[in-house]
Amino acid sequence: NLLANSLFLFTEILFLLLLKSFRSTSSMQGYSEMARERSKTVTSFYNQSAIDISAEKVSRAPAKYLHKELPVRIAHRIKGFRSLPFIIGCNPTILQVHELYIRAYHMLIDFPLIKDQEVEASFSKLVQQLLDDHKDVVTMLAEGFRECRKHIEDETIVRGFLDTTLCSRLGIRMLATHHLSLHEDNPDFVGIICRRLSPKKIIEKWVDFARRLCEHQYGNSPRVRINGHVAARFPFIPLPLDYILPELLKNAMRSTMESHLDTPYNVPDVMVTIANNDIDFVIRISDRGGGIPHANKDKVMDYHFSTAEESNQDPRMSSLFNTMTNSGPQSGPMHGFGFGLPTSRAYADYLGGSLSIQSMQGIGTDVYLRLRHIDGKGESFRV
Ligand SMILES: Nc1ncnc2c1ncn2[C@@H]1O[C@H](COP(=O)(O)OP(=O)(O)OP(=O)(O)O)[C@@H](O)[C@H]1O
Ligand SMILES: [Mg+2]
Repeated sequence: NLLANSLFLFTEILFLLLLKSFRSTSSMQGYSEMARERSKTVTSFYNQSAIDISAEKVSRAPAKYLHKELPVRIAHRIKGFRSLPFIIGCNPTILQVHELYIRAYHMLIDFPLIKDQEVEASFSKLVQQLLDDHKDVVTMLAEGFRECRKHIEDETIVRGFLDTTLCSRLGIRMLATHHLSLHEDNPDFVGIICRRLSPKKIIEKWVDFARRLCEHQYGNSPRVRINGHVAARFPFIPLPLDYILPELLKNAMRSTMESHLDTPYNVPDVMVTIANNDIDFVIRISDRGGGIPHANKDKVMDYHFSTAEESNQDPRMSSLFNTMTNSGPQSGPMHGFGFGLPTSRAYADYLGGSLSIQSMQGIGTDVYLRLRHIDGKGESFRV
């Protein structure tokens, strides 16, 4: 259903990418030809307005598309909330999210036709506002489901709802952000697509972030070494990586620190390997944090599975944890809801890739994140 819903969407983004990058060159040629044409003919006046009309149409197309597409996607989400088991649907936090979607639906449906620049500008404002209003939805869903899912026998209902809702949300946010950033003048980007994304650079950005969190919580953090295709650059969308990479790095650092609580100032490095090819690229994160115990192997991909509670009970952690609970909002926890892995895997699948885990119990864990190129030889993905 998700795939069917979003069937043509990535083509849409790619289409916009190509449209914009090619238009900027071809329209210049078109214009000078037109100008030559005009100087020769008396009908230049009419040609001029025809050009204006076409230009108007072109620049407004993405906004119109979004205006039509968003309510449809949101309506599907609302249907999803309605078909949740009663006990979950009645949870106050879940209800709050449900209402956020209903409100967004009405705001979009009631929005007037986008006929000129002015209306388009206020549409962009609305889109930005909705993005802000919905920014905590993942946390709210995690909180809402945490208690009430106990009462649901069938685990696949919870997984199905969360996979679909979270991926659809990612798709909506990608489209909305793409629309908003098409108006920005950044030579490295076409909307949300980075023309020359460096996996190494984006990994480094999130390594710094995760190490800061880790140091805050454990007093030290493992070094991270990056090898493989460190010079690779290709067009890609950073947004999903900005979610997945910090989650995987936090997990690797946490397991490293917690398996070395007696020697926190002497911990093994985390290794990150990049492999790039025509079809996809792979990022492998290897830690020496002791691996995932056999008993947990099949559970770590479940929403809400977390060993956070257990480590809170380790006496060596308690002094560290006191500092953590008093920490400021921007420092954030290293672990929490048990959402990092399942959400990352859902996002990777959604983008035509995969997330898989190999654990060497007693030594450490390798996580493989595989994502398809958007301009590769293989079939790309749709949003
Ligand atoms: N690299 C790893 N090494 C050892 N165990 C891991 C590793 N990554 C994940 N796990 C185990 O899998 C569990 C689930 O991971 P996940 O990232 O989904 O949740 P979390 O880290 O507990 O919380 P959250 O990511 O939502 O903050 C973790 O609690 C941990 O027990
Ligand atoms: Mg995690």
